[in-house]
Amino acid sequence: MRFEPAGPLRGELIAPPDKSISHRAALLAAMSGEPVAIHNYLDSADTNATLRAVRSLGAVVESRPDELLVRGTGLRNPAEVTGAIDVGNAGTLMRLLPGWLAAQPGGVWRIDGDDSIRRRPVDRIAEPLERMGARIEAREERFAPFTIAGAALRGIDYELPVASAQVKSCVLLAGLTADERTTVREHAPSRDHTERLLLRAGVPVSRAGGAVSITGVDELELDEIRVPGDVSSAAFALAAAVLVRRSRVTVRGAGVNWTRTGFLRVLGRMGAEVEGELEAPNTESDLEPVSDITVRAGALRGTVVEPTEVPLAIDELPLIALLGCFAEGRTEVRGAEELRFKESDRIASVVEGLRGLGAEIEATSEGFVVSGTGGLRGGRLESRGDHRLAMLGAIAGLASREGVEVLGMEAAAVSYPGFSDDLARLTAR
Ligand code: S3P
Repeated sequence: MRFEPAGPLRGELIAPPDKSISHRAALLAAMSGEPVAIHNYLDSADTNATLRAVRSLGAVVESRPDELLVRGTGLRNPAEVTGAIDVGNAGTLMRLLPGWLAAQPGGVWRIDGDDSIRRRPVDRIAEPLERMGARIEAREERFAPFTIAGAALRGIDYELPVASAQVKSCVLLAGLTADERTTVREHAPSRDHTERLLLRAGVPVSRAGGAVSITGVDELELDEIRVPGDVSSAAFALAAAVLVRRSRVTVRGAGVNWTRTGFLRVLGRMGAEVEGELEAPNTESDLEPVSDITVRAGALRGTVVEPTEVPLAIDELPLIALLGCFAEGRTEVRGAEELRFKESDRIASVVEGLRGLGAEIEATSEGFVVSGTGGLRGGRLESRGDHRLAMLGAIAGLASREGVEVLGMEAAAVSYPGFSDDLARLTAR
């Protein structure tokens, strides 16, 4: 699919539903004893894999006009599954679901996914789950397919070796039925949707000084979950509006949880005007704040993204590389080794992808360094099956001098099925 240099992007966009929160909503609803209505669930390849998984585990999912109604199995009753649970391309599903299954004494489940998921490590969840008492057997001790043999778990005090909201969430889900307190400590804050939802579900969650602790419960008490718009998906259109001259775009209904808006803060630092009611750091709330966000095109300057900012903008780091190409001076991302374990090795794929379009960008062991040249020539970019790389190529095309052909654009459907249509509407005169 080709993306030609665009005239100004103008207008409004409704942010597609949040992928992270949709996964969590379906999982926690499946773990509830009472029916849960989920509003604005994301209809995408990844989040549909989660619905299939919870159905196979015994939850009943009814699709109604304005909501999904999930009748769960309760915390302790997931069904046995014949064959493997197929997580498709969904890393969040692969890392969170085992937290629940590990806590089922006597149960054994097998998990598998597509070629990309088979290259993404699971030892990071196997290690804490085994410490809690479960048994995980993974291919080469670190990859799918893997089996989980559940057990009556004990609570642990766990310091995350990598900044990962997925690992944090997995341990917290396992802790829901553990016999003692479970604590997860992180060096820098990562997205906290699981903590907020658990608090909503009546779980005693305490958060202080980078540690989150929960104690076990008999059941989750949830009746309704509203999924906000996905600020990570919205970030692509916002970046395009910043880069394409005379653009002005408003994204409606984006989730603005502080742990998700690092990209918007970096954008502000690079000189863009970002209007919206962004949340301040908040470890008390059980809600997901929502706001409209407006940006307009303008000159950018380079910046350094520090390691503590990385988890707060992890999925938007490829966009920061693109913005760096157009900025004055140097843009550097530090402490982002984790990018190597995403849907593609996103240090390699971003650097090679943007270089092929004329960017001056170098990979480092922990991120990348971009020398801004004020623009980008264009060319061809291969998505490598990575949705965020496909969308990056599209935005690069709109802002480039010669346009970009994206190979494998269909990957975008993993998180943002209407992406190309939304862009076309914003660029139509
Ligand atoms: C996610 C957490 C992040 C992010 C991913 C979704 C989540 O991964 O990159 O797209 O929903 O918890 P890590 O926590 O592994 O960094």
